[in-house]
Amino acid sequence: MATLKQAVADTVINKTDNNTNSITNMFKITIHMVSSVDGYIAKQDNSISWFDTNDSYEKGVSVSEHDAKEFLKTIDCYVMGSRTYEHALELSKSYGWAYGDVPTIVLTHRDLPVERQNIETYSGDLNKLVDERLKPHYQNVWVVGGAELTRDFIRFKLADEIRQSVLPMILGNGVPFFNHIGQEQALHLIDVTAYKNGMVELRYEVKKH
Ligand SMILES: NC(=O)c1ccc[n+]([C@@H]2O[C@H](COP(=O)([O-])OP(=O)(O)OC[C@H]3O[C@@H](n4cnc5c(N)ncnc54)[C@H](OP(=O)(O)O)[C@@H]3O)[C@@H](O)[C@H]2O)c1
Repeated sequence: MATLKQAVADTVINKTDNNTNSITNMFKITIHMVSSVDGYIAKQDNSISWFDTNDSYEKGVSVSEHDAKEFLKTIDCYVMGSRTYEHALELSKSYGWAYGDVPTIVLTHRDLPVERQNIETYSGDLNKLVDERLKPHYQNVWVVGGAELTRDFIRFKLADEIRQSVLPMILGNGVPFFNHIGQEQALHLIDVTAYKNGMVELRYEVKKH
């Protein structure tokens, strides 16, 4: 059974990627999301068995655990909405905390219980979050959901890249990835990678002008 942790690890690496921040040394915000072909990121009951595709695509690439770990080391901060955090917490009881010891900022207006030292909460203006909390401390920031938070990062043009990992599955219902963003956003296709498990990763640069 694929876990959320494995899904993150399996889907974030592209061996031909010469554009990581460790090389360019520039601040970058990447939105990463796993979606179905029909664009859903979660089922209504929040179950995650659909991450386990059972598909196989011979021409696809595979990624070793070592390479995935090395890639994940390049991410120095995760940002997530409170509903994503609460779901990740629930999953952590069975699979462990998917985001390791990497500093993680959870967006919430509530007084959420935070048990891990590397997790902090933030409430309010996302521009301020980026300018005052993220830029001075981190370089390679990943916004890992959910739909509401990523919508705002796109609306306010705060995201530099979108990585959409599309699983070979039609869910038919659930939480849509791009839900009523309310404005056009041009993208530049950076890369496409097909994996052995039938997943396709699309990498887009978010055009700012
Ligand atoms: N497939 C994938 O890759 C993937 C990845 C991540 C999540 N998911 C799924 O997506 C679903 C959650 O997505 P979602 O769109 O419902 O919720 P979400 O984006 O995870 O969280 C939204 C919540 O974050 C808080 N928030 C957002 N912006 C804020 C701000 N500027 N200041 C303070 N708080 C702010 C608010 O909660 P408060 O009420 O706490 O203020 C808001 O209701 C879950 O089902 C999860 O499993 C899927």
